[in-house]
Amino acid sequence: MSNRPRILIVGSAGQVGVELQRSFADYGKIICRDRDTVDLAVPDQVRAMVREAAPNIILNAAAYTAVDRAESEPDVAMTVNAQAPAILAEEALRTGALLVHYSTDYVFDGSKRGPWIETDKTNPLNVYGASKLAGEEAIQKVGGKYLIFRTSWVFGPHGQNYLLTMLRLGRERESLNIVDDQIGAPTSSIELANATRTIVCGVLDGQFGATPNWAGLYHMTCSGLVSWCGFSRAIFNRAQALLDGKMPVVNPISTSEYPTPAKRPQNSCLSNEKLEARFAVRLAPWETALDEAVRRLITPLFKACNLSLGKDDRNG
Ligand SMILES: NC(=O)c1ccc[n+]([C@@H]2O[C@H](COP(=O)([O-])OP(=O)(O)OC[C@H]3O[C@@H](n4cnc5c(N)ncnc54)[C@H](OP(=O)(O)O)[C@@H]3O)[C@@H](O)[C@H]2O)c1
Repeated sequence: MSNRPRILIVGSAGQVGVELQRSFADYGKIICRDRDTVDLAVPDQVRAMVREAAPNIILNAAAYTAVDRAESEPDVAMTVNAQAPAILAEEALRTGALLVHYSTDYVFDGSKRGPWIETDKTNPLNVYGASKLAGEEAIQKVGGKYLIFRTSWVFGPHGQNYLLTMLRLGRERESLNIVDDQIGAPTSSIELANATRTIVCGVLDGQFGATPNWAGLYHMTCSGLVSWCGFSRAIFNRAQALLDGKMPVVNPISTSEYPTPAKRPQNSCLSNEKLEARFAVRLAPWETALDEAVRRLITPLFKACNLSLGKDDRNG
């Protein structure tokens, strides 16, 4: 490989994809691909995209993330979340490229007391979780130089996510009813991208030895735990400057009071011990990550770059 690797970011316009562009900007030649240049639901386009880009590193931040819609579009979800990653893995194996892929806490059913570890039994409750699990399994079956990072409750200053949705609703409504009996670790796209950069640099620098020493599946979330209700309250407390003087009342409700097409796990807490032991990487507490995301939103420069607050509730 030349000194400047070719880095293909798939899903470059998504919330994680945008942060990967930032965190890898000075590391190599970035090649961005998103829906306007490739349809990941068309396998031939996926293969052609990789062959044309000829990357040394593939960062796959693309996914079908509309958790509720996936219940009525299982075939598309499966193609984008399982078949496309399988092709990326095959192409990476063929050329010796490194593939980084993200997965989700939704591969678990949420029934465990305590944090889930990588070897715990998976049992997705919804189509999205099943399609992401199939994607993990497809990559593992192909093998080669791959890293799969399972994360949870992703938020950040870009794209469509819970933080931006809460800020919009907080300005529109006097009160909100938010589920209080699902717990997890909100994880910022900024932290995910920065940790990915640190690990990829270490892998390519040979810090972690030969491929079998580091390739595999890891949990990667911010530290700490909270319910959606607690997360919403923290957002409103920390982001008052973005609420136009409003401060909505947040009422806790149970999952059964907020029925959705897709079931969601009650306990989404993932243990990061394997990641920390293997790569000596630890993501910030979710509160610190939230402060950083809010700071980015408040920065005048960011405001001048046109902030469109989230319009839907993706939480895949
Ligand atoms: N968001 C979460 O809470 C969460 C939680 C756990 C794990 N994850 C995982 O983290 C990774 C990054 O998620 P994210 O939150 O950054 O997702 P995101 O913001 O929804 O971005 C995903 C990107 O993939 C693109 N995409 C979807 N279908 C496509 C297709 N058929 N062809 C081309 N592009 C397509 C989307 O384009 P469009 O916008 O045009 O659809 C979007 O730009 C994913 O693997 C996701 O499963 C996310």
